[in-house]
Amino acid sequence: MSSLDNQKILFCVSGGPAAYQLPELVAALVERNAQVTLLMSADTGNWVSLLLLEKLGANLMVEPATAVNELDRFDTRIILLSDPDDGAGDGTGEPWLKTLLVCLIEAQHDWSGTVCLGSSSELERFLPESQTGLIKETGVLIPPLLGDTRLPKFDPFAIIAAVVRSRAAQLLVGKRVLVTAGPTFEDIDPVRFIGNRSSGKMGYAVAAAAWQAGAEVTLVTGPVARPTPQGVAVIRARSAIDMQAAVDGMIDGQDIYISSAAVADYRPEQTQPHKIKKGSSPTSLSLVANPDLLARVAARPSPPFCVGFAAETEQLEEYARGKLVNKKLQMIAANLVGDADGGFESDQNHLHLYWPGGERQLPRSSKAEQARQLIGAIAERFNDWNGCEETGHGE
Ligand code: PMT
Repeated sequence: MSSLDNQKILFCVSGGPAAYQLPELVAALVERNAQVTLLMSADTGNWVSLLLLEKLGANLMVEPATAVNELDRFDTRIILLSDPDDGAGDGTGEPWLKTLLVCLIEAQHDWSGTVCLGSSSELERFLPESQTGLIKETGVLIPPLLGDTRLPKFDPFAIIAAVVRSRAAQLLVGKRVLVTAGPTFEDIDPVRFIGNRSSGKMGYAVAAAAWQAGAEVTLVTGPVARPTPQGVAVIRARSAIDMQAAVDGMIDGQDIYISSAAVADYRPEQTQPHKIKKGSSPTSLSLVANPDLLARVAARPSPPFCVGFAAETEQLEEYARGKLVNKKLQMIAANLVGDADGGFESDQNHLHLYWPGGERQLPRSSKAEQARQLIGAIAERFNDWNGCEETGHGE
């Protein structure tokens, strides 16, 4: 099952050099089973092969008036904010795109379900000032990854994430969510370190799911090589102490803290400034305990809703419930690790959620789906907990 199954997408494009990436973007959406209709200015075919776009599975529509009358038929609109005036000064496509945008403004109260591809300055050029703030609040603006305004290159994954968000239940609108992910590396010397296993897949999926549910999300990540999730502000950390500093710097004003990082419990007592030469030093390593970042956040005078993860190789429920109580958490997501299938590095997982007085097992699925269901459970529990907090009866 794809996350875009049967989504009806209207993709509005003018001609111009920026149209060069259309086949790749259309292919990425169609591959995920979206139904893509391309609404094009009359000259788009001069810039990109319409035959290819059709073969990739897009429905082509060159008559704007028809589509504008049928806007409600589409779940999501994507608009490529490009100036088709290839420096020639004739500006053939721009008026068309502007007319289309005016129709959109008249047809809808806000920009939910709309994804604009372009920079902030392009947004300002194509839309009246009254609308630019609104689109950032209720729609999604995806700036180019690379390139200039003539040849922008967009990240297909960012677009897919934005389309998913445009249809996802907006369970966390107005909420600020801080997520930690990945391992921490505790340096022995400039060449060697100790650390816990984690690819960051689970934590990045949680950050993406929180953003798709409408939250403002900050992700503090340990050293992993993963693309930044769309819409999420990322802070990089290496060691547990770095991660603690990043969390401390961001925690004020957060509504929810989700600690999926595999923070190393210990670090070398000393980090050597130069590479330790083989045979030049004792083979034992003196360790000191790292702070427990999650327990510290949960012990704050007015803590956010705290969600821990428990990575266990045995007695999953007993150990997870112990962490729930000892760290004073509102929820813990437990996973068995050490098997080939699930936990570390795998694309799949099988979370067991525990909270004071309740539990839920999520059927094994992709980490993206586990994250979506975890965010659903957090949103349910958060509302109860928040209500209790406000009346002084927090769990
Ligand atoms: O990254 P992947 O390859 O996708 O793998 C995902 C995962 C298995 C790493 C993830 O699902 C997971 O279980 N993360 C938590 C790993 C962990 O450190 O668990 P723990 O049981 O040791 O710690 C319990 C909780 O305390 C965790 O929320 C942890 O973030 C937090 N903690 C632990 C130690 C410490 N010094 N500070 C902490 O905040």
